[in-house]
Amino acid sequence: MLTVVRGEPMEYDLRHRYRCDLVPIPTGQRGADVIQGLTRRPKTLPSYYFYDQRGSELFEQICNLPEYYPTRTEQKILASAAPEIAALTGPCDLVELGSGSSRKTRLLLDAYSQLQGDCTYIPIDVSTTMLQTTALHLLADYPCLFIHALAGVYETALEHLPPSARARLLIFLGSTIGNLSPQEEGQFLRQIYLSLSPGDHFLLGVDLQKDIHVLTAAYNDSQGVTAAFNLNILRHLNHCFRGNFSLDRFTHWAFYNEELHQIEMHLVSLEYQVIQLLDLGLEVDLRAQETIRTEISRKFDVTLMAKQLDCHGLPVQRVWQDEQKWFALLLCKRV
Ligand code: AVI
Repeated sequence: MLTVVRGEPMEYDLRHRYRCDLVPIPTGQRGADVIQGLTRRPKTLPSYYFYDQRGSELFEQICNLPEYYPTRTEQKILASAAPEIAALTGPCDLVELGSGSSRKTRLLLDAYSQLQGDCTYIPIDVSTTMLQTTALHLLADYPCLFIHALAGVYETALEHLPPSARARLLIFLGSTIGNLSPQEEGQFLRQIYLSLSPGDHFLLGVDLQKDIHVLTAAYNDSQGVTAAFNLNILRHLNHCFRGNFSLDRFTHWAFYNEELHQIEMHLVSLEYQVIQLLDLGLEVDLRAQETIRTEISRKFDVTLMAKQLDCHGLPVQRVWQDEQKWFALLLCKRV
């Protein structure tokens, strides 16, 4: 693991309370998932390539869109549930997967600040810039906070969690679990179980099945931010692997697959084209109208999700939902 000591204008006190470790993707694997996805039919791309700096900014914009209900719904649930969550877990260190701007986490930090003197927060995100920007704001607002950020993908970062003197609360909000296939979800929950000790907690946010029009609108916003977010994955791949994707030769397409209970986000090729990613030694043909699936976003049933968690040694202690039952927060206690 590589320790990054950042020298940007950060006051001594803040620097003293912040460190960021870069958890690199093993070099043998870099790009292997891109090759695999683009050489099969239907073509796919791994969703984590959305999140370069621009992608993370666009995602923040998505969270504020009127059509994108998950963020504000979860935020509202968390605002009333946070003190109860802290009371149920007792004092602990907070670990967050896909922390982004940590906006919702502030509600938990408020609750835990009341409960314990100091607080250690371990945000995990693929964007180092986002980690640092967010950390600076949090450290300025919470004088007793220590941040040990991990920059990398979840799978690797979870294997590098710093040792903890307290119990842990592992937080996974925003229904990002919905971006995993059922098989990946099983492996992920197994990894969560292994990263925690008996008595630790896992707080999971899940988006629930609902009216198809509400779901479809959330991924086809009128301002075109989701479309820009989707297309940005190609710009990021061009940058990472010396690619030649032209963004204007693709269009955004998102629909709800009712059978699989998932939103599917695709990029549709507007014409026949040949794509090269020089650093991967890859050349692929795309037919006109052929699609690349860039994301699935599964929508859940609370009872089935609770069973799934239970099967993975993470029985649910409490569930909170909004009035419309559009979103749920599940607090699990690792056996
Ligand atoms: C991060 N994730 C939970 C979002 C979702 O809703 O699946 C990503 C997203 N894609 C398009 N809009 C938002």
